[in-house]
Amino acid sequence: MRTSGNKATTQGGISLARIATIRATEATAFREARPKSEAAVGNGLKGFLDGVPMHWMNDWPTPFPILVEKAKGATITDIDGNKLADFCLGDTGSMFGHSPEPVAKAIRRQAKRGLTYMLPSEDVLPLGELLAARFGLPHWQIATTATDANRFALRVARAITNRPKILVFNGCYHGSVDETMVRLKDGKPINRPGLAGEFRDLTQSAQIVEFNDLPALEAALAEGDVACVITEPVLTNCCMVLPEPGFHEGLRAITRRHGTLLLIDETHTISTGPGGYTRRYNLEPDLFVLGKPVAGGVPASVWGMSEEVASRYNAYNLTREAGFSGMGTTLSANPLQFAAMRANLEEVMTQENYGHMEKLAGRLAAGLEASIARHNLPWHVQRVGARVEFICAPGPLKNGAEAEEAHAPKLEAAIHVALVNRGVLIAPFHNMMLVSPVTTRKQVDKLIAAFDDIAKDLVA
Ligand SMILES: Cc1ncc(COP(=O)(O)O)c(C=O)c1O
Repeated sequence: MRTSGNKATTQGGISLARIATIRATEATAFREARPKSEAAVGNGLKGFLDGVPMHWMNDWPTPFPILVEKAKGATITDIDGNKLADFCLGDTGSMFGHSPEPVAKAIRRQAKRGLTYMLPSEDVLPLGELLAARFGLPHWQIATTATDANRFALRVARAITNRPKILVFNGCYHGSVDETMVRLKDGKPINRPGLAGEFRDLTQSAQIVEFNDLPALEAALAEGDVACVITEPVLTNCCMVLPEPGFHEGLRAITRRHGTLLLIDETHTISTGPGGYTRRYNLEPDLFVLGKPVAGGVPASVWGMSEEVASRYNAYNLTREAGFSGMGTTLSANPLQFAAMRANLEEVMTQENYGHMEKLAGRLAAGLEASIARHNLPWHVQRVGARVEFICAPGPLKNGAEAEEAHAPKLEAAIHVALVNRGVLIAPFHNMMLVSPVTTRKQVDKLIAAFDDIAKDLVA
């Protein structure tokens, strides 16, 4: 097997010189296939800061953002007529495919009845029970983004425990929730590098330990000032880190022992099954968050709480002085969200659809693993249900520090653009690929073949 090699001259076992050559060749091919797009967006979109309506659009490794004409099923078509098998799926927002028909129908129906009025509509009547039955917690609220849902849930946790801090695992991402923006550097907590306009020391309100490190968790919670541990069941936002056997049992036992609440953020791990990782592995969170795909692509999120948290929060509210709770946004819990979410939960997030996703994701993971082995690359593949990731380093990874070390940005960027040139789109921030209910076997095989072709090129 090739070794990972010296990081100054190689990434993922490939020389930086080879990576640069491939990146340049692929950038040219990308441009040549998109003359109309280049004319429209190649120099940035007029009137927008840095030429894009949201700055993340500049983080795609392509020479300029892909200008989409339409997306349907698991295919994106750009304005030059290039078709891409879409495994990014809006970085999970469209993980059930673009405009699933039941959701599109619900949107059309609701569009005739008003889009937002700060009042419930009939679609919400079955929703509370639907959420409770699906995810196993009895009390729910609807927000618009997973970021907001996490912020609100953390506020409840601090309110009822009367403790100031939260605890996160190194490498985590829970949206732009300020207090989670910390990292470990050489074992010491620091503000996450790169935060704009941050002058507070965020480590004052957050503890941080490595994922899979139960003794460190125990020590941190023993201080008695942590209201809530917030975590994904699998770290998906760095190179993917799976929980070691016994980690979740230990996490739950330790949090309970120290009177700390547990918030499970399922925004990405909903790839596991219709009830998320929580239901599949019988986790017992006090608070639960799911955003992104819950309404089939319409901006919406949900956050739920246990009976105990709800009754403690009710008691707390009796003592709270009157005024704004700090939770809620004007467009949250609107009738468009109710309609889309209901259709998505009832007709799209079905066991049958997950069966298809799981089967094809297994095929994808096996195909990528075989290619990695064929080319003797020091890489590995991880999967959580319908979410697959190739990582350009040996694995499995144990924690966020190892995940950061495994990241190979230049190599990954070259692979991303090369995949696009072969008709496949994957997530830009990490090598994540999602399989939707409408993804076909042909698309999966296309991705495997494209990956293999690129691997061959890299090691040539
Ligand atoms: C686990 C997790 N939680 C929360 C979020 C935030 O979602 P949003 O950007 O929709 O607020 C993300 C986004 O990637 C996420 O991965």
